[in-house]
Amino acid sequence: MSPPQAQGSVDAPLDQPAPVTAGDIVAVLETARTRTLAICDQHTEADQRAQHSPLMSPMVWDLAHIGNYEELWLLRELDGRAPVDPTLDDLYNAFEHPRWERPSLPILGPDEARAYDASVRAAVLDLLATVDLDTPPTGPDDRRGRLLHQGFVYGMVAQHEHQHCETLLATVQLMGPNAVPPPGTTPAPRPAATAGTGAAPTDDATADLVRHDGGRVVIGTDEGWAYDNERPPHVVELAPYALGRDPVTNRQWRAFVEDGGYDDERLWTDAGWAWRREAGLEAPQFWSRAGAGAWSVERFGRRLDLDALADEPVQHVCCHEADAFCRWSGTRLPTELEWEAAARWDPAKGRARCYPWGDDAPTAAHANLGQRHDGPAAVGSFPAGASPLGVRGLIGDVWEWTASTFTPHPGYVTFPYAEYSEVFFGDEYRVLRGGSWAADPVAVRGAFRNWDYPIRRQIFCGLRVARDA
Ligand code: AVJ
Ligand code: FE
Repeated sequence: MSPPQAQGSVDAPLDQPAPVTAGDIVAVLETARTRTLAICDQHTEADQRAQHSPLMSPMVWDLAHIGNYEELWLLRELDGRAPVDPTLDDLYNAFEHPRWERPSLPILGPDEARAYDASVRAAVLDLLATVDLDTPPTGPDDRRGRLLHQGFVYGMVAQHEHQHCETLLATVQLMGPNAVPPPGTTPAPRPAATAGTGAAPTDDATADLVRHDGGRVVIGTDEGWAYDNERPPHVVELAPYALGRDPVTNRQWRAFVEDGGYDDERLWTDAGWAWRREAGLEAPQFWSRAGAGAWSVERFGRRLDLDALADEPVQHVCCHEADAFCRWSGTRLPTELEWEAAARWDPAKGRARCYPWGDDAPTAAHANLGQRHDGPAAVGSFPAGASPLGVRGLIGDVWEWTASTFTPHPGYVTFPYAEYSEVFFGDEYRVLRGGSWAADPVAVRGAFRNWDYPIRRQIFCGLRVARDA
């Protein structure tokens, strides 16, 4: 028996987006650079040079690494130019030098890094005026055509800079009292308890689950600036499942803490329990006890009362903690396929969308993205961003841990380089989905896949619960 027409076909194309122009590319590159510089400019030279955590690079390393990546792809790869300075490729190659080692390298200082980035950018904009973005590649071997067509390689460079902007903010958050809120941000919306579905806030993360029938769905994409690891679109069969309408909140996480969740070995995997003991985990990173049952949260150099943030998605929990929370609440983490089906599949039309709300690029009404605020918004703040089934906050606010390791989609082909995705495939990394409040709209999609070690929590990460249905 063949499946019904509308179900799980890769042949239903996304709406054709408008062609990408040189002007579009200038705008996205400039948005990224303005943000990078604004973040760095808020800090003293000493703080830009210092290493604030062995997990992070000095800010000046990210700053010149962004320019080196842009030079490599948009000047040397596209135009065969000679290196600006032959010593820089090694210094800013992330695979040659782990983060902890970077402060001891002869890296560029704050002024030199800014001058280098600016000189690369000026040459990139000159070259951009001469390249052909419109002619489709002649075939899979037409590397240059594939890089240029619809500005793919420019999109890759812009997304890279935005990813490092988010990394810079994770570094700032680790600066303790020297941290300042990200430039131009305002506190995120905290709607009244009755906003959204009208349901009152609850300690119970399982109180509002949305059922998905599963079946044949399309996973993966071939949309414009998607990375190789998001491709190609392919059909997957899912069992029915249920997913939290919203991410897990601070209120719900506090109930887990107060119920002794961090001390109950039965809730943790062996690896999770070993890490919980070794790292002394007792609560999310940046939480402190402020009296009986009271907690404060350190956010960009300030101490906030957890009560004021109770309905925001919890952030700064590692995958092991997320997994223990799920076991405590009688749920499990969603697989990334379940997450993507909820975020992209339109059951009525039988096709995948770019975003939960459709194919339109994210606006301020859809999601908390792009460093507009200094943290996640209370759940339910963006009703216009809900999925066809009413799942909310899938894009923006916090990266959501999944149960899945980072493996290639069936039919994966590396393009344009192995060190973005391929070298990370395997059991060591867990996939996170959806993008945080600190991620830029051009660097987030329903199909976008992030990954990190399951012990990491300095990134802006949280979770949503799932179970079989
Ligand atoms: C996709 C966020 C895991 O930051 O390590 C930055 C992105 N790749 N520079 C990372 C990336 C090269 C990557 N993540
Ligand atoms: Fe990088």
